[in-house]
Amino acid sequence: MAAIQKTLAQAIRGRRATPSFDGAPIPASDLRQILDAGLHAPSGYNLQPWRFIVVQGEEQKRRLRAASYNQAKVEEASAVIVACGDRDGWRKDLPEMLRLGRANGMPESYAEQAEDSVTAYLSSFSEDQMTGWLNKMTMLAFTSMMLMAEVLGYDTAPMEGFEQDKVCETLKLPMSYWVVALLGVGHLKGPDKFDGGRFDMSHTVFGEEYGKPLK
Ligand SMILES: Cc1cc2nc3c(=O)[nH]c(=O)nc-3n(C[C@H](O)[C@H](O)[C@H](O)COP(=O)(O)O)c2cc1C
Repeated sequence: MAAIQKTLAQAIRGRRATPSFDGAPIPASDLRQILDAGLHAPSGYNLQPWRFIVVQGEEQKRRLRAASYNQAKVEEASAVIVACGDRDGWRKDLPEMLRLGRANGMPESYAEQAEDSVTAYLSSFSEDQMTGWLNKMTMLAFTSMMLMAEVLGYDTAPMEGFEQDKVCETLKLPMSYWVVALLGVGHLKGPDKFDGGRFDMSHTVFGEEYGKPLK
């Protein structure tokens, strides 16, 4: 286990979208710790529809950069975690989710009900609904990875600036995959990005109903 460098509170407040990385390789054990944090995120029915492609090779990072509007940090990052959702994941994984759950104490009544309701719920989704669902689930895992990387002393860069088709082609992704976001991980090179600040809580948080201030 890599040493903890920051508390979670420090990581949350001190994190910046890193503008440039030094490209030094990440120890495999640190990378696994970061990935593992994401894989422990919650997901609807525990279906874990996320999939991650970890890009570290110089040539592949160059190709990925070309698919990401030539953003230099894609190539400079020590590793780029390409976070995807699998539109067909739930169909294939439902039996395994139930098997795992049962092995870990899932009540039989819950398992039986989940089997029916997952199928009814997700098979009714339009393409847009499925994309929204995959984005929602995958970003939870993505965020856990990002914060774990920061806690371990790495710098991170979340990215949505990429071309879906080009990333799919570069990574040879199955047709059912949807690319959600890229996470650059490494160490900052040069000056950090400015802290853009955040809206006041009164602008984005309400109490009890929309428009009422939180007491
Ligand atoms: C999902 C997501 C996608 C982003 N995509 C990009 C990107 O493609 N390129 C980039 O330079 N910054 C990108 N950013 C970084 C944001 O611009 C940055 O997070 C925001 O300005 C706030 O700055 P901070 O993260 O340093 O607090 C992205 C951030 C998020 C959360």
